[in-house]
Amino acid sequence: MWIRVLGSAAGGGFPQWNCGCANCRGVREKTIRATARTQESVAVSASGDAWVLLNASPEIRQQIESFEPLHPRGPRHSPIAAIVLTNGDLDHCLGVLSLRESHPITVYATDQVRRGFIEKNVLYRTLERFPGQVTWRRLVLGHPQDVVGADAPGAGAPIERHAPIGLSVEAIAVPGKPPVHLEDLPASPEDSVGLLIRDAVAGVTLAYFSGVGEISPAVADTLAGADCVFFDGTFWSSDELTAGGLGTKRAEQMAHLPVGGPDGSLARLTGLSAVRKILIHVNNTNPVLREDSRERARVEAAGWEIAYDGMEITL
Ligand code: MLT
Ligand code: MN
Ligand code: ZN
Repeated sequence: MWIRVLGSAAGGGFPQWNCGCANCRGVREKTIRATARTQESVAVSASGDAWVLLNASPEIRQQIESFEPLHPRGPRHSPIAAIVLTNGDLDHCLGVLSLRESHPITVYATDQVRRGFIEKNVLYRTLERFPGQVTWRRLVLGHPQDVVGADAPGAGAPIERHAPIGLSVEAIAVPGKPPVHLEDLPASPEDSVGLLIRDAVAGVTLAYFSGVGEISPAVADTLAGADCVFFDGTFWSSDELTAGGLGTKRAEQMAHLPVGGPDGSLARLTGLSAVRKILIHVNNTNPVLREDSRERARVEAAGWEIAYDGMEITL
């Protein structure tokens, strides 16, 4: 299994356009040891031929261009067979609307996330230019399914897009919340999921949990059995936004378990057998972004890595 981090930051990226926190200023002015990051998205492939994107960030165009295996191999072609959405947050799904150049695409999402994206959304019409432009495939919690490409006979869609790409995906409910723009809707167990991606031939699994409000038994079980783990690295501490005068919500109110502290994910996720353990969806305020910070040293001492754009993993 070939894993490429296209974007590793939380919503807004790093630096964020309207943020003058110490991290954002420091990375702009090159006065701290830190690297800019685009918003979270990861590409995964079994063969290197066909790829699945885990989330579609607002920076998807630049991210596709940044990685040659995702470039077209014909006049109208894309090696991206499918996109899987872990929730309806805009940093995870706005990129789908950017893929509007009349190309058949396949999107895996829970029914809740699909409805949140298409209902009352007049901009979605840009993906209804021809029948079957988007094939939605439903993620049913706890049911692994083979990842397959678009089944619509769109212009120039090569036949191999219809075939399974050698990976299966299973969605695991994660304590989360509806996206900010749908917070008036009742919460659902399908609002936010983690993913277990399997390559049965290679016999390896990737657990992808980029937004986690709480480590439920189901989340803990999935992480325990995976060969590679990506986990929510949004905030180091609960009051990171409020203390910095940057926001009004605590990490928990945004359904992100902090990494640090006695109840944080670093303390709770000890003893995982995964060969690689990586924090992703890192917010611009998080001190772990600074390569020489105390918090970064703690993360690394515990055997975790911080995702960066361009990071590659082979399992
Ligand atoms: C999150 O990860 O909590 C969201 O991306 C926040 C947001 O949509 O502003
Ligand atoms: Mn986010
Ligand atoms: Zn900032």
